[in-house]
Amino acid sequence: MTPLIAGNWKMNLGSSEAAQLAGDLAAGLLKTDPAAEYLVCPPFPYLGLVADILKETPVMIGAQDCSVCENGAHTGDVSAAMLADMGCSYVIVGHSERRTDHGETDEIVRQKAAKAQAHGLVPIICVGETESQREAGQAEKVVGAQLEGSIPETAQAGNFVIAYEPVWAIGTGKTATPEDAEAMHAFIRDNLALRMPVSERIGILYGGSMKPDNAEALLCMPNINGGLIGGASLTAESFLEIGRAIS
Ligand code: PGA
Repeated sequence: MTPLIAGNWKMNLGSSEAAQLAGDLAAGLLKTDPAAEYLVCPPFPYLGLVADILKETPVMIGAQDCSVCENGAHTGDVSAAMLADMGCSYVIVGHSERRTDHGETDEIVRQKAAKAQAHGLVPIICVGETESQREAGQAEKVVGAQLEGSIPETAQAGNFVIAYEPVWAIGTGKTATPEDAEAMHAFIRDNLALRMPVSERIGILYGGSMKPDNAEALLCMPNINGGLIGGASLTAESFLEIGRAIS
């Protein structure tokens, strides 16, 4: 499986910075023969701009969220159909910041993932425990329950991706050790194997303070198939360097 290096730009950058970053990524990738697939998830208002810049390049675009609804009177929401129309191929659903800031439950995440799939998008379904849950020895139980509740019935190998993002590692500079991350990824794969065939073909990304200096140790683990990268995706240099850690 080709590793996926996904950038989650969150609510950062202005339009000129977003354009610059997209251009720098395209230029940087021209110089190498990438061993990974690259994806960037800009804020909604810049999707069109970034999609235009990356059109003829190997860098794919995705969004950071989508609506559970098809269309209609849902002020402020953005539908999966609109994202597909803008050229997105992926959408992040259930990021811990959305679970916390917007009270998104596993059931909402499941509906969003199903809606994304219905429009040909690959949902990146995020799961991960908090620090206190890990300290209490509940990490696997919490992640297992999130998988159970957040993965739609329509899921099969190839039409969704999981991102394991321990909440305590997101934006904090603390990273799970490669061994701890690998143990959770193996747990996730075993869990998926119980519900669908060819679980070895399901991408499981690690997210949480992945940086150029820790990427190699994480990405060489057998069950870590790429990264979901926040802070380090905001400069082309660090984002591409993470991808280069793969070969
Ligand atoms: P971080 O964010 O790399 O800044 O920790 C990762 C994420 O939240 O997807």
